[in-house]
Amino acid sequence: MKININGKERTVQVDGNPMLLEVIREQLELTGTKYGCGEAVCGACRVMINGNPVPSCITPAVSAQGKSVVTIEGLEQEGKLHPVQQAFLEVDPFQCGYCASGMIVTAVAFLERNPAPTREEIVDAMNGNICRCCTYPQLVEAIYQASKKLA
Ligand code: FES
Ligand code: FES
Repeated sequence: MKININGKERTVQVDGNPMLLEVIREQLELTGTKYGCGEAVCGACRVMINGNPVPSCITPAVSAQGKSVVTIEGLEQEGKLHPVQQAFLEVDPFQCGYCASGMIVTAVAFLERNPAPTREEIVDAMNGNICRCCTYPQLVEAIYQASKKLA
């Protein structure tokens, strides 16, 4: 199958009906996207498909054909971090960091739809992303700071 990932058209051989996460990590070797629950509950595996954050653990890879897939690796442009990535670096909300790529991808998609959110709107938008280190206040702060940078 062909897949457009991070702006590049790639061709991968697939057996059966693999989930997008498997193709991204094991065939395309983009390991920034993480496997957490495998049940669309934790948000660790989120990538953007046509700008929407989706759980790649339950998304059949074939359903992404003909669409634009963006992973955490695709957010940086010409050596420059995305403003959301930069804000996360500065606020430094993570402990283990396992939730980071799903959080950042979800935040990027959210801020594209709502560039000037309140903190309450950020909490609502990030509801589907679980951080088992419980760094939620700092995560909200990082996204709030990112919205200021984007403005
Ligand atoms: S691994 Fe996909 S949502 Fe948890
Ligand atoms: S920082 Fe450890 S899961 Fe979020």
